[in-house]
Amino acid sequence: MMRIGFGFDTHKLETDQDFWLGGLQIPHVKGAIGHSDADVLVHAIIDALLGAAGLPDIGNQFPDTDNRWKGVDSRILLGKTMELISEKGCSIGNIDSTIVLQNPKISGYIPSMIRSLSNVMKITEDQLSIKAKTSEKLGFIGREEGISAYAVALLQK
Ligand code: CDP
Ligand code: ZN
Repeated sequence: MMRIGFGFDTHKLETDQDFWLGGLQIPHVKGAIGHSDADVLVHAIIDALLGAAGLPDIGNQFPDTDNRWKGVDSRILLGKTMELISEKGCSIGNIDSTIVLQNPKISGYIPSMIRSLSNVMKITEDQLSIKAKTSEKLGFIGREEGISAYAVALLQK
């Protein structure tokens, strides 16, 4: 059986913060803020995987009231998500995702993000697609106040 899942995430961008995205630290004047490392792409992928497996979302699995997840590397959460979906008898078919970010240009980092995250999920690089878009300077993303990411996952059960 095939199961589809969808994930979305947004974080605020602030100056002088580390910027973690797709499992990499991106050099930039701003960074995403949140309880964990605020990696929106990894969070969207986690929710897509959990949704496809029929499991409760990232906030239920890794509550921001739990100090274990304070400042945590989101790749750790992705690894734990892989355990949860395997326990449900699911494996990844493929994942497609889009990061929406006005600045900086990140297309040059995408091959490294794919390498890093496919390694955590123990899938081949062609099972993970990551794309980037601006919001054409519109809205909170256009004003560089925030970043969003969307992901879909297809699982085999
Ligand atoms: O061309 P269109 O208006 O559809 O897209 P865009 O938002 O202007 O993005 C054009 C291209 O820039 C994308 O296809 C990405 O390859 C790249 N991009 C990027 O590298 N980093 C971003 N933060 C946004 C877009
Ligand atoms: Zn998040």
